[in-house]
Amino acid sequence: MRIAVCPGSFDPVTVGHLDIIRQTAKLFDQVIVLVVINPKKQPSFTCEERVEMIRLATAGMENVKVDHYYGLLVDYVREKGAVAIVKGLRAVSDFEYEFQMALANQKLYPEAQTVFLTTRAENMYLSSSLMKQVASFGGEIDGFVPEILLPRIKERLWKPLDPTAKKEELK
Ligand code: PNS
Repeated sequence: MRIAVCPGSFDPVTVGHLDIIRQTAKLFDQVIVLVVINPKKQPSFTCEERVEMIRLATAGMENVKVDHYYGLLVDYVREKGAVAIVKGLRAVSDFEYEFQMALANQKLYPEAQTVFLTTRAENMYLSSSLMKQVASFGGEIDGFVPEILLPRIKERLWKPLDPTAKKEELK
């Protein structure tokens, strides 16, 4: 059985993530979507919430499991006997950081390969942080996040723009 791990913060999961997960599920026997806890980040959703949201969004995908982890990614990969770490690449700007991580992971655990998948063109711009910024200024995030999660994500992140907020005057 060929297992792939899709790691990330998923704070929260977007349609871009979901597309990568779907593509990975076609290429491997089993996919583990792994919510990795980063103690340096202040997430908008708890780890449990992020796991639950991914479970809901991937409910129809039979070979996809969701888990969470705190620690070195390659230790988890080794423990599960996974053969690949799958990451989505959007623009060239993602590449340097992802390449650095891939090389470090390869050094730490050469048995697994990092595989980069490209997102669909319509998701090139999308990230959890961009979506959160749009929501925080009262923008519409329909189409950015899985439909089933929209009410829940809006409830947490969406803030209508205060029309009485004083605009700073240009001098
Ligand atoms: O969605 P993100 O925040 O870009 O995901 C980054 C993530 C979680 C994949 C990365 O930070 C990670 O692998 N963290 C686990 C700790 C680890 O193994 N670090 C060394 C990677 S070289």
